[in-house]
Amino acid sequence: MRIGIVQTSPVFGNKAANRKEIEELTAEVRADLWVMPELALTGYEYLDREEARTLSEEVPGGETCQWLIQFCAERNCHAVIGLAERSHMHVFNAAVLTGPEGVVGQYRKLHLFDHEKKVFDPGNIPFTVFPVGSARVGLMICFDWRFPEAARTLALRGAQIIAHPSNLVMPYCQHAMVTRSLENAVFCVTANRVGTERRAGRCLTFTGHSQIVSSKGTVLADAPGNEHGVAVVEIDPSAADNKRVTMWNDLVGDRRADFYEKN
Ligand code: ACM
Repeated sequence: MRIGIVQTSPVFGNKAANRKEIEELTAEVRADLWVMPELALTGYEYLDREEARTLSEEVPGGETCQWLIQFCAERNCHAVIGLAERSHMHVFNAAVLTGPEGVVGQYRKLHLFDHEKKVFDPGNIPFTVFPVGSARVGLMICFDWRFPEAARTLALRGAQIIAHPSNLVMPYCQHAMVTRSLENAVFCVTANRVGTERRAGRCLTFTGHSQIVSSKGTVLADAPGNEHGVAVVEIDPSAADNKRVTMWNDLVGDRRADFYEKN
């Protein structure tokens, strides 16, 4: 299975230009599953909830979902993208997984970061694993990395691959995702953005280094820190079904869940 990561620097609010760039970057490259950044078509730093609402869309009817389904149909692939999702009175920092026939899965960020708390509603659906061919894919978004329960829950629910759209501004996530892979024996695919946004009186610089990490913790792809581009790696998702560390150790079977609960 060929896994692709897309690394861009969206023009704030210009969905058409940002779609075009992704189409151009991926035009000559084949992947079975593309992972794109968090809020990949709008940019990250919304001024307020009203702006988020204006840029948000419904799933599956909105233009981003419909574009991504078309993208998958033209390339016979699946794809994950981060977007602002509007649902009734709510606006979520969300991700969707689509295939050629429609939306396969969705996720709403559970662990909102910093100013996101004044812009978005916290996610309200559980971590879920979705089929992509014979592979099993889970979704989490950016700051979820800081909560090991996110990747652990997805792994315990059967994920072989964790697709992780991101807009990272703090160091260490790329290292932490190696650990998430090692802890859970899953592939972790972090699609991050680059560039700088000056909005709401703040200046945010995004760290790039989108990466694909194997179920054994090996970094298979590491994008540059400040360039737009794509990278593709061939993996065998079934490698993530092997939770053995030694003949005597199994990452799932050796858990002592009875002792983990808070007293
Ligand atoms: C982040 O969660 N976008 C840092």
